[in-house]
Amino acid sequence: MATSLPPYVDPLSMEVLFSVDQIAERVQSIGKQISEDYAGQTVVLIGVLKGAAIFLADLARSISVDNTFDFVAVSSYGRARVSSGAVKLIKDIDNPIEGKHVILVEDILDTGLTLSYLRGLMLQHKPASLKIATCLDKPERRLVPIESDYTCFQIPNRFVIGYGMDYAERYRGVADIRIFPETVPGH
Ligand code: PRP
Repeated sequence: MATSLPPYVDPLSMEVLFSVDQIAERVQSIGKQISEDYAGQTVVLIGVLKGAAIFLADLARSISVDNTFDFVAVSSYGRARVSSGAVKLIKDIDNPIEGKHVILVEDILDTGLTLSYLRGLMLQHKPASLKIATCLDKPERRLVPIESDYTCFQIPNRFVIGYGMDYAERYRGVADIRIFPETVPGH
């Protein structure tokens, strides 16, 4: 079924929330913290597709301890800007995580429904430990109690794009993090 996309908005016209340099600095800092916390151990990073792909790529390269990575995919918000509330696994991990130190990697922690669901699912695999790393955290949007162990930035309730994050699948490749305007015709 053909669906029409909302109008394209030039990302350069959007307000920058975090610059490339600010993001890089925070990711480096989290990578250093993880490297200290897991010194001498192996970490499995599990990215949640698709939004976390770019953050995971940078985070993995900022970690100096042994690490591997895997991906899961869950049902998406699609074009809606708010959570449907229902989360479903679309792609599971490829490799077993029993007895391993796992970090779930997200681009954004919003209502918490996605990570809460994934945390429960991953714990069933009996990892040695399970932590959460997220690029952005919107604490005021939380519907279920869940906290991130490693966070780049806490943000207010604004809709953001870039650095992996999309609106209607667009703008993921924008290198910085920008605020999608509230009032755009067709949105
Ligand atoms: C976003 C984000 C998280 C989830 C967070 O995914 O990547 O997975 O929403 O929201 P929550 O805390 O309210 O559950 P989205 O459904 O937009 O898919 P995407 O990763 O493919 O962009």
